[in-house]
Amino acid sequence: TASDRPDGSDRPEIVLVRGDITEQDADVIVNAANSSLLGGGGVDGAIHRKGGPAILDACRTLRAGHYGRGLPTGEAVATTAGNLAAQWVVHTVGPVHSAQEDRSEQLASCYRESLRVADALGAETVAFPAISTGIYGWPMDDGARIAVETVRASHPSSVREVRFVLYDAAAYAEFEAAL
Ligand code: AR6
Repeated sequence: TASDRPDGSDRPEIVLVRGDITEQDADVIVNAANSSLLGGGGVDGAIHRKGGPAILDACRTLRAGHYGRGLPTGEAVATTAGNLAAQWVVHTVGPVHSAQEDRSEQLASCYRESLRVADALGAETVAFPAISTGIYGWPMDDGARIAVETVRASHPSSVREVRFVLYDAAAYAEFEAAL
């Protein structure tokens, strides 16, 4: 693990860990979802597999209500974490990487909005995956830079630790460089 000390500032401490996000003991685990909220592969598949059906039930309820058209890219919404150690899962939808169009602001928005939702719940620890850097094709170096910059620019009131949970050594190295 590596961490960036808060030095008395009100910014959350940023911690890097290698591992599986579903194993994290954090108040909030952020899911790299898709706008259907009804599951998928990668982090999303792992969270639903390990968290059990309560998460999908909550997502279906969201789709039957406010999010009838799905969760827009860059937004975030919380559900129960089911059987996971976390209290909540915050689902966010990253942008698919595009060579033609700069979607960086949408990716930054995922981090900002997820933190805002977590903070409103009173969460103290939030675990993020490297959003959009898997199936959605975002280059890890740029994804790491956006993640770190966006979290550094945030001033949540309850969140005191933001943990980036990186699946492999290459992802960890890119986040370490960004930090
Ligand atoms: N823990 C931590 N990181 C992981 C894990 C895990 N268990 N599994 C994968 N990663 P991805 P996206 C890493 O594809 O790119 C789904 O189908 C992975 O190596 O999960 O935002 C959704 O439903 C990569 O670096 O998310 C959407 O349709 C990062 O997590 C779509 O994928 C994100 O990879 C979202 O794609």
